[in-house]
Amino acid sequence: MSLHRVLSAHEKASYQEAARILRQGGLVAFPTETVYGLGADALNVQAVCRIFEAKQRPAFDPLIVHEYDPDRAFELCREVPPEARLLAARFWPGPLTMVLPKKEIVPDLVTSGLETVAVRVPRHEVARELLKAFGGPIAAPSANVFGYTSPTTAAHVEEDLGEKVDLILDGGSCPVGVESTVIAFEGSRVRILRPGGVTAEELADLVRVEAYTAKGRVESPGQMTSHYAPWTPLHLLPGAFGDFLEPWDAAKKVFFSRKGRAVRAGLLVFREGPSYSDLETILALSRDGALEEAASNLFEAVRKLDKMHLDVILAEPPPDRGIGRAIADRLFKAASGRKASKDMFNDL
Ligand code: TXA
Ligand code: MG
Repeated sequence: MSLHRVLSAHEKASYQEAARILRQGGLVAFPTETVYGLGADALNVQAVCRIFEAKQRPAFDPLIVHEYDPDRAFELCREVPPEARLLAARFWPGPLTMVLPKKEIVPDLVTSGLETVAVRVPRHEVARELLKAFGGPIAAPSANVFGYTSPTTAAHVEEDLGEKVDLILDGGSCPVGVESTVIAFEGSRVRILRPGGVTAEELADLVRVEAYTAKGRVESPGQMTSHYAPWTPLHLLPGAFGDFLEPWDAAKKVFFSRKGRAVRAGLLVFREGPSYSDLETILALSRDGALEEAASNLFEAVRKLDKMHLDVILAEPPPDRGIGRAIADRLFKAASGRKASKDMFNDL
C-alpha cells in the first residue's frame, strides 16, 4: 500500500487533511460501521462526478448522502414523515438509509435525477469525525469498483481504486461488514429496498414493514442482480454442502471430462464444520454460526477466495433471519443467480 495516500484515522491531523481535500472537490475513502465509503462533497457536482468515474459506476445508480446528525440529514429532505423521525431516533447514528423527497439543493447527479435522496447518519467514529471536520453532507457509495465485492478494509479500497482516490483514512476493518439497510416510505409503511445492518425484525418493532424479496422488481437502481460479485464464479448451494455430495460428485465428473483436470473449488460456510478432501479450501465466516460475526467477515472472505485461482466458489445459504437476510442478498447477487447443481459445469 502506498503510504502517501493512506493516513491513519488515529491521527487528529488526518481529519483536517481529509476535510481540506473534500473542500477542494477531491475524493476521500473512509470507514463506516458497514463498509468503506468513497466520499465527496455532496453539493459539489464536479466532485460527485469524480465518484462515478473512479468507481466506473453508471450514472443511473444514485448515491447515499451522509450527515453528522439527523437534523442535518433531514435538512436535505423536502418532507419527513413521522415514521422517519421515529426510526432516526432509534437507529441513527447507525446502518440505516432512508429514501425521502429531496430538496432542490441536492444535485441531480447525486440522486441520478430521482426526486428522492437517500440519507444516512453513520455511527463509526471515523466517519463522524470526518463529517464534523468537513461540516457538510458527504456523498459516498461503497469504495469498490462498481459490481465488485464491497471493501471492509483500507487495503481493499487501495486494491480496487488505488490512485483514483486522493486519500484513504485507515480506520481498520468495518464492524458490521454489510451495507446499510435502505428503506423507502409508503404512507406509514416502510419498504426495504436493500437488506442490511438494521434488520427487518428491528424495524418491525417500530413501524409496519413490507417483506423484502431479492427477486422482486428493481426499485432501487443499484439492485440489479449481478453485484457484489467476485471474478471467480460463485454458486449458491441449496443447503449444507454435506447434503450436496451426490450432485457435487456428478458435477466434478463433468468438469473433469471437459477440462481434463480436477476442479479447484472453495467453500464458504457459516460455521466451522467437517472438512472435505476434494475441496481446495473451506472458509468459515464464524466459528459457531453467529450471524453478526459472519456478516463482518463476509466480504473479506469472498475477496480471499477470489485470490486463490479457484474454478468455482460454492456458498452455503445463511439462515433466513436477522442480518442473515443481508448476507443472503449479497451472496445471491454475487452468484448472479447461479445455483449449484449436478449440471453446473455442463456448459463449460
Ligand atoms: O452502508 C452503506 O450504505 C454504504 C456506506 C459507505 O454508507 N454505502 C453504500 O452505498 O452501500 P452504495 O452506493 O454502494 O449503495 C447505495 C444504494 C444503492 O443500491 C442505490 O441504488 C440506493 O442505495 N439508493 C440511493 N439513492 C436512492 C434513491 N433515491 N432511491 C432508491 N434507492 C437509492
Ligand atoms: Mg455498493
